[in-house]
Amino acid sequence: MSLKASHRAMVPFVSVDNMMRLVHHIGIETFIADLAQAIEEDFAKWEQFDKTPRVGSHSDVGVIELMPTSDGVLYGFKYVNGHPKNMGEGLQTVTAFGVLSDVYSGYPKLFTEMTLLTALRTAAMSAVATKHLAAPGAHTMAMIGNGAQSEFQCLAVKAVCGVQTVRLYDIDPAATAKCARNLAGLGLDVVQCETPEEAIEGAQIITTATADKDMQTILTDNMVGAGVHINAIGGDCPGKTELHQDIVARASVFVEYPPQTRIEGEIQQMDPDHPVTELWQVITGQTKGRKSADEVTLFDGVGFAIEDFSALRYVHDRIKDTPYYIDLDLIADPDDPRDLFGMLKRAK
Ligand SMILES: NC(=O)c1ccc[n+]([C@@H]2O[C@H](COP(=O)([O-])OP(=O)(O)OC[C@H]3O[C@@H](n4cnc5c(N)ncnc54)[C@H](O)[C@@H]3O)[C@@H](O)[C@H]2O)c1
Repeated sequence: MSLKASHRAMVPFVSVDNMMRLVHHIGIETFIADLAQAIEEDFAKWEQFDKTPRVGSHSDVGVIELMPTSDGVLYGFKYVNGHPKNMGEGLQTVTAFGVLSDVYSGYPKLFTEMTLLTALRTAAMSAVATKHLAAPGAHTMAMIGNGAQSEFQCLAVKAVCGVQTVRLYDIDPAATAKCARNLAGLGLDVVQCETPEEAIEGAQIITTATADKDMQTILTDNMVGAGVHINAIGGDCPGKTELHQDIVARASVFVEYPPQTRIEGEIQQMDPDHPVTELWQVITGQTKGRKSADEVTLFDGVGFAIEDFSALRYVHDRIKDTPYYIDLDLIADPDDPRDLFGMLKRAK
């Protein structure tokens, strides 16, 4: 009896190293644009998915979450944390990994790092929202919060929406300098700003991706002019928001999955029935996005499981016939399915 694992026991595993190779093989902007398309495809069949708000385990310093969903054929989940204090300790605020499985057998089809993939998919999601909601011809974005997520956000609106200029601001000038350095030579005009007011000057799009485990006021009402589109990405947890309530009250609010966003998003500041539009309905054309040039549109993005499912599905498709994964002996799969013990015994 061979002790070698059967091919069915093997699960393709994408390490951080291989994810980076895959992204460069495809090209960062192409990768993000492809993810945006994958998200749009899955949002277009929104009603087919199992949907549940993510399951969070909160502590005083952060949150660890599980984000599952299924379209009936494939099942995906992501493990992700959010620890704003981590950055000060030399650790990432957000780290993640995930699994894609076959619903018919329950066997995993992919196991992958998702820290990079989450940054890419979050940027792709904001770009999808921006594409559908920003004023036509929008060319300048203010990027407030210049941490790990920021470069991805900037490249995504370039790749998907044709944004040419990004105006950067962070309370820590070193973060802004890092972001500007990383974006150099990538085809964007990059302006480093010293105040949030300076950053939003002339911007038709404002993206906030700051991290603080608190109700922050990154933007006040007087800072947001008519016709602006806002992606508020950093407020994604109970008790963690970025916008003054008056902006939320004035804006047309677009969300991923209302039961989750009402707990985690900017709208946690509002009444439980505060009107929102679900983005999938805009993507499918069932509802209009922006209705007038003066309207302030707000994508209250918290990150939803279907976006991770899209990313897992995309990576699973793209690693085929590439060297960018290894097979992991992850599933115990005895030749006789009832002889799990025998397999263990023979391994001695
Ligand atoms: N919505 C989603 O899908 C999604 C996905 C990933 C991350 N996030 C959230 O996005 C946020 C950013 O993530 P990250 O990985 O870039 O975090 P990070 O810790 O790497 O960077 C956050 C940056 O925000 C800056 N900042 C804090 N307060 C600020 C303020 N008042 N004004 C301007 N800048 C300020 C910090 O100096 C830091 O540079 C986090 O809150 C994270 O939880 C959301």
